[in-house]
Amino acid sequence: MKQKNTIKYKNNSQTKNAFIFEGGGALMRQNFISYDYKNHNIEKNIGDRINGIFSKIKIDYSWSFSNATRKDTGYITHSYHRYPAKFIPQLASRLIMQYSKEGDFVVDPFGGCGTTALEAKTAGRNSLGVDINPVAVLIAKAKATVIEPKKLEIEFSILKDKIALYNENTDVELPAHNRIDYWFRQEEKKELAYILSKISEVKETDIRDFFYCAFSNILKNCSIWLQKSNKPTRDFTKEPSKPIAIFYRQVKMMMKGNQSFYSLLQEKSFSKIRSRVVCGDARKIPVKNNSVDLIVTSPPYVTSYEYADLHQLSALWLEYIKDLSDFRKLFIGTSCCGENKTDVNSLFARQIIENLELQDKKTAKETAKYFSDMNQVFVEMKRILKKGGKTCIVIGNTSLKKVEVLNAEVFTEQLLNLGFKIIDIIKREIPSKNLPSVRDEITGKFASLNTVNKKMIYPTEYILIAEKQ
Ligand SMILES: C[S@@+](CC[C@H](N)C(=O)[O-])C[C@H]1O[C@@H](n2cnc3c(N)ncnc32)[C@H](O)[C@@H]1O
Repeated sequence: MKQKNTIKYKNNSQTKNAFIFEGGGALMRQNFISYDYKNHNIEKNIGDRINGIFSKIKIDYSWSFSNATRKDTGYITHSYHRYPAKFIPQLASRLIMQYSKEGDFVVDPFGGCGTTALEAKTAGRNSLGVDINPVAVLIAKAKATVIEPKKLEIEFSILKDKIALYNENTDVELPAHNRIDYWFRQEEKKELAYILSKISEVKETDIRDFFYCAFSNILKNCSIWLQKSNKPTRDFTKEPSKPIAIFYRQVKMMMKGNQSFYSLLQEKSFSKIRSRVVCGDARKIPVKNNSVDLIVTSPPYVTSYEYADLHQLSALWLEYIKDLSDFRKLFIGTSCCGENKTDVNSLFARQIIENLELQDKKTAKETAKYFSDMNQVFVEMKRILKKGGKTCIVIGNTSLKKVEVLNAEVFTEQLLNLGFKIIDIIKREIPSKNLPSVRDEITGKFASLNTVNKKMIYPTEYILIAEKQ
């Protein structure tokens, strides 16, 4: 291979741990197309180059935020609702401060529960969060929408007066879905149905969504879902709960968050900053070409969290889904495969898929679909970013069926192939309290500490920072 086609990397004087990659992009893509994927010598060559880049990256401990307390990570409205694999706000904030300025437009295509949206708002940046999961969208909207505290107090007091009329003889219209009966005991189901019917009478959308968000977060506690498990597991020994009391506690906690968010925005004069949250697909972001200054995001992982399963209680009660399997198909990284057509746009990915094929064909197919879907997301990122706009992608490597799935390396190659310039790769340590760090070695799924084939995973992750040329 000619020298000019190799990736050169050199220290970037502006950032401590940064590299500039040259000679990638279009040139590399031409070579990739002409390569025979079965030719392992060439694959090894490409793999070595990307490996070479990654092996030189040292952990930057300033990105661990290991001193951040629960209070720090749950400040303002961040602790409204549990959400798996959410960003630590300090990380999103630092990226936003470093790579954008006040008044800029920030997008998170995998917006989740709205961490980027909140941090963008407190930094005076307008934002859009997209997520395929309507439960995530409800949470993110509630968290990013500040409500005048006095008004909220009045509405809560009205709601409480209505709820106080409930007793065991109250006539309540019960939800019909049989999945709800699978998860809830009769008495709790009835009390919850009553609370929900009273919330639905709240006129103002933002306030109604605030209460729906509170309702959504108490469902796990009020069900027989095994409390300490993220996976849908029933616990028939779970103590019955008191939904109304739990709901009140939840709302009071959220009201405090709303109050501090309100004061913070007033103090900074950022009350008018827009944070839009939409339910949609990261491959079709509803914004114009060349309109976005910065993207900050953390994508889903292949067959890790089944977000559709995890949020089924809220999705069922709030009538977002009728059929769980249809709901699942929309998520990137889900374990059900749709069409076979995949374009992974990365030799590194092909290598991983071939290795997986030797172990398990289904996982190989799911991984191919995942990388192909992610490549489409990067194409979309390129479309919406302004020239010079940056995308910050937080991603860890993992393993499936004992095969290393080097997401960061694959994404780097895909981004280069699409013509992005990689301006920095940060390696950070993940404080264990923020993310599950145990996986089943065989299935690759998150597992408990008692799992026999457990493997500690995600001790570190990368932040890839790429610029649109
Ligand atoms: C790692 S989480 C993001 C968490 C987020 N950074 C936060 O702080 O809440 C990945 C998200 O991707 C979403 N997702 C999966 N497939 C998607 C798709 N096709 N389009 C948009 N979002 C999707 C999931 O619902 C999940 O919320």
